[in-house]
Amino acid sequence: MSRATRILSIATDNPDEHLLEEAAAILRRGGLVAFATETVYGLGADATNPEAVARIFEAKGRPASNPLIVHASDLPMARACVAAWPPEAETLAQRYWPGPLTLVLPRSALIPEIVTAGLPTVGVRIPHPEVARRLIARTGRPIAAPSANRSMGVSPTLAEHVRDDLDGRIDLILDSGQTTIGLESTVVDLTTRQPRILRPGPYTVTELEHVLANIHVREAVEANPGGAPRSPGLLPVHYAPRTRAVRVESPQDLADFPWPERAALIVLGRHELPPLPASIQRFDLPAPGIAARGLYLTLHRCDRMGLDLIVVLPPPEQQEWHAIRDRIRRATKPLRPEPR
Ligand code: TXA
Ligand code: MG
Repeated sequence: MSRATRILSIATDNPDEHLLEEAAAILRRGGLVAFATETVYGLGADATNPEAVARIFEAKGRPASNPLIVHASDLPMARACVAAWPPEAETLAQRYWPGPLTLVLPRSALIPEIVTAGLPTVGVRIPHPEVARRLIARTGRPIAAPSANRSMGVSPTLAEHVRDDLDGRIDLILDSGQTTIGLESTVVDLTTRQPRILRPGPYTVTELEHVLANIHVREAVEANPGGAPRSPGLLPVHYAPRTRAVRVESPQDLADFPWPERAALIVLGRHELPPLPASIQRFDLPAPGIAARGLYLTLHRCDRMGLDLIVVLPPPEQQEWHAIRDRIRRATKPLRPEPR
């Protein structure tokens, strides 16, 4: 594929049936369609068609070892993708679906191995937006959809981010505006004795434990530079902008900072800052929800500004900032090497 990728605008409320059918027909033929979920744009293919799924890996330059999340339009479709449905799955699905929670469960025979990178498990979720669910329902098959960006890059929260990364490599982009949450789903493994968060996201460990009525949920492991990652999304470098990006530890690090000529500062949370040179582009994301919605948007914007450096001032250590801290650790390098 090398022609420019078509972009179709579609309304979020009451989406046009003809547009949905056009996109669904592409998916049924084994093509690739990018569409908005509530978290980030996904790059969709028919999850039951191995050739279609292979095109996702090719378009993204994604290693074959990184499994894809399967998206369903409703509970029966989600359950058809898995070979077991423990009570914890029922509880979490009832509470959080449709929504930004991915459940990892034993894979059913409906889902080919290429989707799960050979793993016996599959990640499934029902996305929230009507456009996404109607598209999947019309296609009539579960849709494998990783974030619609080149592998290792920043996830897209606007259709134009998808175009910038994947133009000419995919068949269609359904543009329904900015995604509402802006940060990828929480991934929870339900195949171990104790549920385990593999990727922190919009739902925190405390919320999940509350809903599961005191079942203990294990936190995602920190980026592990030596060992094999339990979930490839936990690779230490991921979600990185093209521009050199460093994180400082505290506002004091910004006093006498060796700023290059063109630089941006992204401030997560509320901090007292030392005086900064007037040339610095400053972006403030003071609260967790605003930061989730704005972090990738800001990183994409900085990439387009042709800067020499992005400096990130991370948020406080509170749990509601956990997922954002996680993405920042993967998107930036520490200003000073961290002790191991
Ligand atoms: O919010 C989201 O989850 C977005 C939207 C498009 O749904 N999707 C997304 O997909 O972020 P992707 O491919 O960029 O990240 C999927 C994450 C990866 O960390 C992958 O390793 C993990 O989910 N994952 C998928 N299937 C898994 C499995 N069977 N076992 C463990 N981890 C799995
Ligand atoms: Mg991704």
